[in-house]
Amino acid sequence: MENSPIGMFDSGIGGITILNSIKKLLPKENIIYYSDNFNSPYGNKSKSEIQELSIKNTEFLINKGCKLIIVACNTATTNSIEELRSNFNIPFVGIEPAIKPAALQTKTGSIGVLATKGTLSSYLFNNTIHDHGSRVKIVEKNAEGLVELIEQGVFDGEKIKNILKECLTPMIKQKIDFLVLGCTHYPILIKTIKSLIPSDIKIIETGKAVAKQTKKLLLENKIENTFYDGNDYFYCNGASESLNKILNNKFIINKL
Ligand code: DGL
Repeated sequence: MENSPIGMFDSGIGGITILNSIKKLLPKENIIYYSDNFNSPYGNKSKSEIQELSIKNTEFLINKGCKLIIVACNTATTNSIEELRSNFNIPFVGIEPAIKPAALQTKTGSIGVLATKGTLSSYLFNNTIHDHGSRVKIVEKNAEGLVELIEQGVFDGEKIKNILKECLTPMIKQKIDFLVLGCTHYPILIKTIKSLIPSDIKIIETGKAVAKQTKKLLLENKIENTFYDGNDYFYCNGASESLNKILNNKFIINKL
């Protein structure tokens, strides 16, 4: 199993924001990234649809020889990680909005969470709120339309700004001091997000925590790579322009 690749999937290019942290902490690992952008966005789909797609994505990556799967999507994790763990005998790393660190550190007692409808309505997310966020005010916003724009390769501009303003203004009014980015697509918009909020609001992303957890599982299962053979592979089943754009045209994209 060692020297086999790590598999990552997302409904599109969002997971690339996690890939950067993985590469930093685990430079010897080879990656197979699968963008299921034909079925993007996941955010408005039902739990069973998301589960079905997550299972298909996992099968694809296991057939490519992956030893561990990172579900690089909050919506897929919060709706299907248990299903995946019970269906496949392989370690999984999931990604959930980082409520706990924000709730532990807030001074104003108010935190903002930006995520998809699918994440905000999931049992797992609401359970986390119950366990870690019950004593703080949580201002949740579903940034409707943002993932679609990002998938079209739109990373800034008026349309992006307007959606973000609509979500962030009520959070600012309710005095949040932490903003949790609960969708892997959103760090792509970090500059615009920062320009719309006061500089003392701290933004929480999950990339580093996911990379740490991945390292822990590789070590526990004794499947870490001993060398990097320089082969990372990128697959998508829809248009490849936005994936090319976020990867700065540095890789070959395999279209399915
Ligand atoms: N990157 C996915 C997430 O983290 C986007 C969800 C979607 O496709 O709507 O939630």
